[in-house]
Amino acid sequence: MPSHTEDGFATKAIHAGQEPRQWSHCSVVPPIVMSTTFRQDGPGEHRGFEYGRSGNPTRNVLESCLAALENGKHGLVFSSGLGALTALTAILEPGDHIVCGDDVYGGTNRFLQKCKPGNKVTLVDASITQNVLNAIRPNTKMVWLETPTNPLMRLADIEAISKGIKSIRSDVILVVDNTFLTCYFQRPLDLGADIVMYSLTKYMNGHSDVIMGATITKREDLEQRLRFIQNAMGIVPSPFDCSLVNRSLKTLEVRMQQHMKNGIAVAKFLENHPFVSKVIHPYLPTHPQYELALKQTTGHSGMITFYIKGDSHKFLKALKVFILAESLGGYESLAELPCIMTHASVPEDERAKLGITDKLIRLSVGLETEKDLLADLEQALKASQ
Ligand SMILES: Cc1ncc(COP(=O)(O)O)c(C=O)c1O
Repeated sequence: MPSHTEDGFATKAIHAGQEPRQWSHCSVVPPIVMSTTFRQDGPGEHRGFEYGRSGNPTRNVLESCLAALENGKHGLVFSSGLGALTALTAILEPGDHIVCGDDVYGGTNRFLQKCKPGNKVTLVDASITQNVLNAIRPNTKMVWLETPTNPLMRLADIEAISKGIKSIRSDVILVVDNTFLTCYFQRPLDLGADIVMYSLTKYMNGHSDVIMGATITKREDLEQRLRFIQNAMGIVPSPFDCSLVNRSLKTLEVRMQQHMKNGIAVAKFLENHPFVSKVIHPYLPTHPQYELALKQTTGHSGMITFYIKGDSHKFLKALKVFILAESLGGYESLAELPCIMTHASVPEDERAKLGITDKLIRLSVGLETEKDLLADLEQALKASQ
């Protein structure tokens, strides 16, 4: 079977792990195998599959494709992004210390603090590398980063942080949640991370119809532990959902290119608008870490945050093409108010410190026609006055 390790991104997405000759019928689209159990030739003599929780051919296809796209060796999928987080925290011992970015997805932050008795989490502004390194203690086991962060789009320098951590303690595991950019725009494993984690629910699936998570690593030891946890904790996705995500990966390159194009057009439009006070997008030269964005990533998704001058509620209610809803990364454009919606669980003083006010709006710019998106924003901004 071809290995596809040297192929371009879209070629890997379409072919890696999906060679038709591996199935006797040679179907070009990988088959959905729904069977929960597999016939054995003799007791204990199976052909690679015994029971659907422990392994499934459709799931294997997706996991191989994810590993190839990320330049990793092992992909593991879970029943949600938080399921992947559950698996990662299961490799920790009670009392282990975790260093975590202070502006990560709320569910991640809360779960890390509560996952094991006696676990301590230090929250740091990871856009300053030294903050992360200063927080490492003798019992630190994991560093958790999201870059760019949600919703403030601050970047963490993955390579500098990885080198710094390894020079202090080589056994600290660096995890990067790559949900916002995907492996099309950023490859944390190539920059020194030990594990990449995803809510596949977002851009990777991109069609807003599957909840799923993943971890990808090059390390055999971590793969073995996560593989055990995936099966033992039972946090597996359905074969049907695996097939949907695998189908979606085939268009990841073209989708991300268009998200980038529409996102930049919207960011520039908002930046020049008199009813907008500030726009945050890593590929605008006004972003304080624009240089790091150019160094570390090859583009940005459709995620934009901005501060509105007028009434954010009036703006959001007036939108017609953008849909007022949580989540992100689908082909449809979404808008939301983080302080009341996705980040409502962040304590008020913490939100105020971060700048998550009722003027801060988050957009997930989708794949609709650019002029329709700009016209929708124009009419809703007028309504916000
Ligand atoms: C950056 C990020 N990580 C993780 C998650 C959790 O993923 P899921 O909702 O698939 O469990 C989310 C969900 O919004 C997210 O935005």
